[in-house]
Amino acid sequence: MTSEESESRPRPAVALDGHSGSGKSTLARRLALALHWAYLDSGAWYRALTWATLEAGAATTSVADVLHTLSQIDITCQTDGTVLIDGRALVDEIRTPLIDTEVSNVADHQDVRKALTLRMRDLRARPEIMGVVADGRDAGSVIFPDAVLKVFVDVSLEVRAQRRFDQQSAVHSSITLPQVHDALAERDRRDACRGEAAPRVLPDSRVLDNSSNTPEEAVGRLLEWVQAIA
Ligand code: DC
Repeated sequence: MTSEESESRPRPAVALDGHSGSGKSTLARRLALALHWAYLDSGAWYRALTWATLEAGAATTSVADVLHTLSQIDITCQTDGTVLIDGRALVDEIRTPLIDTEVSNVADHQDVRKALTLRMRDLRARPEIMGVVADGRDAGSVIFPDAVLKVFVDVSLEVRAQRRFDQQSAVHSSITLPQVHDALAERDRRDACRGEAAPRVLPDSRVLDNSSNTPEEAVGRLLEWVQAIA
């Protein structure tokens, strides 16, 4: 293979999928850093498109409005996962309660999912990138079905709820564990209705039980798996 051919080949991808609160984003970010690869935070792309739709005064419930918004923007990301819209880095803007509520509408539109997925895939064609670690619910099934490693990050609903409660109760003292548990269960139910994009263990995915690991231990295990393939 000539060096030009190898330059133009899509970069390898690792896909980490799992439920909301499974810790997959933390693991994907750390794994990408350890490998010197780019991190694709697919949830942040859905959040950023939601933000842009609302900024345009359009309705997230309207597939036509969201597709039109997508056609009008330049959306990409940095290698640390930060999403850029028309060159503007979106960080705090996409982590608000309003975006938390509206983003599910955007993620429910099948045509939007297809169009946004195509834009995400462009990342692997960038010559300066050695590889991509993607996280989401459909990273291995839809975004990168040819990923060299697909991992389902598995954590029980009870453990996820306790972890999220521990984080959120430090900020919102009025929040209760049953509230956090029920909100996560509702999100799981909504995600489970996403057909092909529902979080699930694929026939070719490995399962990482992340209930009792520290992030360091979990990333160590993931690195072993990647290195065994490379
Ligand atoms: O992981 P997150 O909370 O940032 O995801 C935001 C929303 O986007 C959430 O409603 C799930 C959805 N999502 C999706 O449908 N597919 C993905 N690959 C990633 C996120």
